[in-house]
Amino acid sequence: MTLQLDSDGHLRHLLTLEGLPKETLCRLLDRAGQIRDAALGRAHKRNSLLGTTICTLFFEPSTRTRSSFHIAAQRLSADVINFDASTSSARKGETALDTLKNLEAMGVRGFIVRHPEDGAAEALAMQAGEGTTVINAGDGRSAHPTQGLLDALTLRQAKGADFSKLKVLIVGDVKHSRVARSDLHALRTLGTGEIRVCGPASLLPDDGTLEGCATGDDFDAMLEGVDAVMMLRLQRERMEEGLVASLDDYHARYGLTAGRLRRAAGDAVVLHPGPINRGVEITDEVADGPQSLVLRQVSNGVAIRMAVLESLLS
Ligand code: NCD
Repeated sequence: MTLQLDSDGHLRHLLTLEGLPKETLCRLLDRAGQIRDAALGRAHKRNSLLGTTICTLFFEPSTRTRSSFHIAAQRLSADVINFDASTSSARKGETALDTLKNLEAMGVRGFIVRHPEDGAAEALAMQAGEGTTVINAGDGRSAHPTQGLLDALTLRQAKGADFSKLKVLIVGDVKHSRVARSDLHALRTLGTGEIRVCGPASLLPDDGTLEGCATGDDFDAMLEGVDAVMMLRLQRERMEEGLVASLDDYHARYGLTAGRLRRAAGDAVVLHPGPINRGVEITDEVADGPQSLVLRQVSNGVAIRMAVLESLLS
């Protein structure tokens, strides 16, 4: 925690939402709300990061997160370079730290890091130079803080700033999900009234992650009366590990269908971080239906990342 906040409580890096003070979190949400027009390309570019070079340092595939950070940086007038592990000297065995140090030596000040290992972004932040900022864009199963922020912003826009009366249900492979962990941190910090977590027992963590949440494996029962349903991607490799019997079986028990969604509150909203397995964890009808905020999440992602980059680097 002290690594990401300086002694005055200012953000130096963004590694996790765990322990992030509520006012810091809300300030980022407020700022993202204010710059939404610029984020959506409807207003002129801002100049806050003119002359700053940022690198997206990705050791794992990504569609939304990487392009969203790239667009956010460009709309703040930063120069952006993309580092892709599959086409770089990482393939010759160069470590993430050597990569960062070399780019730092070229004057890159901000690193947006995605890595398959837990703690990878934090390890880089520990070794980074004085003026260098590291933003975690997803490490292992640990954290994906900007996704947690954009999900919180999306919920806040739909349901208002008072989370104390909200019932929120997170569904699916929570055990392997950094999105779920960051969502849980944000939901707790914002004082969510009731957090429910549902999935097959084999995909629910038993390491304290779900403390204070109502948990269960009966999706229909847990959907009753909720205000928001946050679906997670079924990571197909879990089937190979024997944690899920088959896609059909998973869909039958945990797929969000229009019929099922009627158990939730009439004005319930549906979120999904993408990439979506259509017909597995969610049907087309729900993903593209009136209660879905999936594309709103994507738009909010640019605004959140602009707010984060501006707050950390300008
Ligand atoms: C997620 C990720 O990579 O953590 N996607 C995203 O960033 N929007 C979720 C996932 O891959 O399931």
